[in-house]
Amino acid sequence: MKKEILKKTANSWRFEGNEIKYVSEVLNSGFGSSTSGNMNQRYETAFAKRFGMKFAVTSNSGTSTLHQALMAFGVGPGDEVIVPALTVVMCGYAVMHAGARPVFADVLSDTFLIDPVDIEKKITKRTKAIMAVHMYGQVCDMEKILKIAKKHNLYVLEDCAQCYLGTDAQGRLAGTIGHVGSFSTENSKHLSTGDGGILITNDEVLAERMRKFGGMGFKNIRALNGQVRKNKDTFQDPKYVRHDTFGYNYRLPEVAAAIGLAQVERIDFIVKKRIKVMEKYRKALAGCDYLVPQRIPKGSRNTCWTFAVRFEGEKRGISWYDFRKKFMEYGGDGIYSAWALVYNEPIMQLIHKQGRFFPDLPNQAKHFKGYLKGVHCPNAEKLQPKIMQFTANQGIEKDMNIQIYALKKAIAFFNKK
Ligand SMILES: Cc1ncc(COP(=O)(O)O)c(C=O)c1O
Repeated sequence: MKKEILKKTANSWRFEGNEIKYVSEVLNSGFGSSTSGNMNQRYETAFAKRFGMKFAVTSNSGTSTLHQALMAFGVGPGDEVIVPALTVVMCGYAVMHAGARPVFADVLSDTFLIDPVDIEKKITKRTKAIMAVHMYGQVCDMEKILKIAKKHNLYVLEDCAQCYLGTDAQGRLAGTIGHVGSFSTENSKHLSTGDGGILITNDEVLAERMRKFGGMGFKNIRALNGQVRKNKDTFQDPKYVRHDTFGYNYRLPEVAAAIGLAQVERIDFIVKKRIKVMEKYRKALAGCDYLVPQRIPKGSRNTCWTFAVRFEGEKRGISWYDFRKKFMEYGGDGIYSAWALVYNEPIMQLIHKQGRFFPDLPNQAKHFKGYLKGVHCPNAEKLQPKIMQFTANQGIEKDMNIQIYALKKAIAFFNKK
């Protein structure tokens, strides 16, 4: 029997728990698929427990989870969902996957998060849900968002892809505040299964719908149970029918679920590492007036997917590009920019202007044509080119300090100029 040992690399610290043990269990059990629900169920139970929630539903990505949640809310053609302008394009896609229109709300220049005042301005009689995206590790202003949602009878979907164990000013965990919390476990996220996603909720009806929609609508699926095959004698019968709900195949493979289970066992340890790097970055910025860190509202906890700052160096004659270059010359990781605003991505413009999903195929998206008419989010447009994201996935102090050294040196370099 070949024994695999995890080699020590810059990334291996993330997978030094029971990952290999649980993956071996899956393989030794003859590759039980998620139709039998073993590793998926164990992972879901552990995840739900850590977040103090009744239901967790695994999925194959953090885009699929958004789609599943919106479908469970009953979002469909003719509906609108409010989404921040500054997030990944997948937040907009998920709304369109459900057949509805994303309506973009502006963000705040200090927290970089969706602006509740603008949310309220964007509400129409077609609005069905608000997608609160907790960017870079910081929880949105959920108190205000919940108030608006209640007033207008809307669902609230929290996208926590970048925010594991973040809390708002009331101490509530991201993902447990709205109707549904959605997480991505794509490789760069706090927890990773390579690719994957997971949903949490206390609402049994929503949990069952989300699981069924992601599980091809097998009729045996329940809020707490993904098993689709039960008694073989009932099942192997020409009269037996299997599907009573529409769905996609968004199931998470058992091997990925095995990794997820091991990851959630170490969630506090992993999150603490990111917070530690963030604290070091924040300290290193003391006295620097042109790198303005994402504001953390009093009492809330940012868990730093990346350390995000607003670069205001232009007013001191320093360009975004020059600062990034200098930081890297001193040994820092490549600073990430912010993604283009969702509505500025070429595909979102193509859908708007030509009603196409592919440049060379007409008509597929004709029902969305013109959906961006009048869209303008001035804060997000001003902020997006200024964002710098410093990496926060270092596992050991030495690697963290390489980033901090580079940041201090780059600041000192431009101070001298
Ligand atoms: C805020 C946000 N939402 C959704 C997603 C989509 O997750 P996935 O890549 O797992 O589909 C991501 C991933 O980058 C994200 O950062």
